[in-house]
Amino acid sequence: MLSISATRLTRRLTELSRFGGLPGGGVTRHCWGSAYEEARAWLLGEMRAAGLTTWVDGAGNVFGAIGADRFSAERPIVLTGSHIDTVPEGGTLDGALGVIAGLECLQTIVEAKATPRRPLAVAAWSDEEGRYGSLFGSRAFCKGIDPAQMPEMAAVDGEKLVDVMRRAGFDPARVPEAKAPAGAVASYVELHIEQGPRLEEAGVEIGIVQAIVGVRRSRFIFHGQADHAGTTPMPRRRDAFLGAAEYALRAREHVVTRGSDVSVTNIGVVYVHPGASNIVPGRVELVHEMRDPDPAVLERLWNECRDIAERIAGERQLRVEIRPTSATVPAPCSPNVQSAIEAVCGKLGFSTQRMYSAAGHDAQNLAAVTEAGMIFIPSVGGKSHRTDETSDPRAIERGTNVLLHTLLTIGA
Ligand code: GLV
Ligand code: MN
Ligand code: MN
Repeated sequence: MLSISATRLTRRLTELSRFGGLPGGGVTRHCWGSAYEEARAWLLGEMRAAGLTTWVDGAGNVFGAIGADRFSAERPIVLTGSHIDTVPEGGTLDGALGVIAGLECLQTIVEAKATPRRPLAVAAWSDEEGRYGSLFGSRAFCKGIDPAQMPEMAAVDGEKLVDVMRRAGFDPARVPEAKAPAGAVASYVELHIEQGPRLEEAGVEIGIVQAIVGVRRSRFIFHGQADHAGTTPMPRRRDAFLGAAEYALRAREHVVTRGSDVSVTNIGVVYVHPGASNIVPGRVELVHEMRDPDPAVLERLWNECRDIAERIAGERQLRVEIRPTSATVPAPCSPNVQSAIEAVCGKLGFSTQRMYSAAGHDAQNLAAVTEAGMIFIPSVGGKSHRTDETSDPRAIERGTNVLLHTLLTIGA
């Protein structure tokens, strides 16, 4: 049976990890940043050397294909892919695996002259991690981005998407051109590390994703009054940090006790203004995210958390401003793609488990336009979004062979 080259796959994963690589391990590679642009150029070179036809769309998505040089409804493409951007101080596999494995599968098919009936392509989607906007590249490709929104899109540190795109040589006005024609994608299959502990703990080799979580993010800005931290009597202070701190604890408790059994919540960004130890905080910004596979649960939790923030602000003589920043839609995966993956695992002799993804993925955007599915491999210790994220090399090889045969089955 046809199989991929684990040596070439490992070599490419190692090479890619050097762009934005950190001295103690792990990677910081924000989309459109200099390390990312170097990685993009390297990836395009690797794709061409592997015999693929390449192009980059208006949203910066990179494609390498066999049997096609663009997306068209006349010749729907079987697509795989993932992303090569990372979170700050992230790992070497989140995203990178799906892109490099996709490239490896296509190269294996080219070399074996095993080209299926349908064209095949691998994508590296822009800004999956959502520094400037959630699942940006796949959203532009599947749903389209409203050009009027572009000037508003910015990172939590204020860096604007339009500025970083221009710096990287892209024209933000051309982002809408990235939207694919209806019917241009025959199916989508993405290989990814699980990023959690379930497969490893169950001793299962391959996860077959049934549904992908929805994520809602909002900025909560508590406004109080900056004051001298030595001379202002304690009862007179309107300390914005105390409002934010109380919100953090109460919102967490609320999601844990009133959400579903898989609801999760996190506050990963906090800014205290003006940010000096001798000034009572006058303004504090939090970025609060919540996740659940059920959109109704997410909607209810979001409304309840907003009420909690307003109540706290009232009790503490503060004002709170709440700005929703992103909302991705939970997505079921295609039963046909799940069955194809399961059949391939049966043939290859790998154990499987159907599971839900608590991490967001580009596949959830693709699910709106085509039959989409995901293959998971175990993450060592369930670790991800941290520098020591890793997977067993044999698990990486297994997952890539499952991807190869799933693409061949679906493309046949
Ligand atoms: C993507 O990595 C996410 O935040 O789930
Ligand atoms: Mn990630
Ligand atoms: Mn990812």
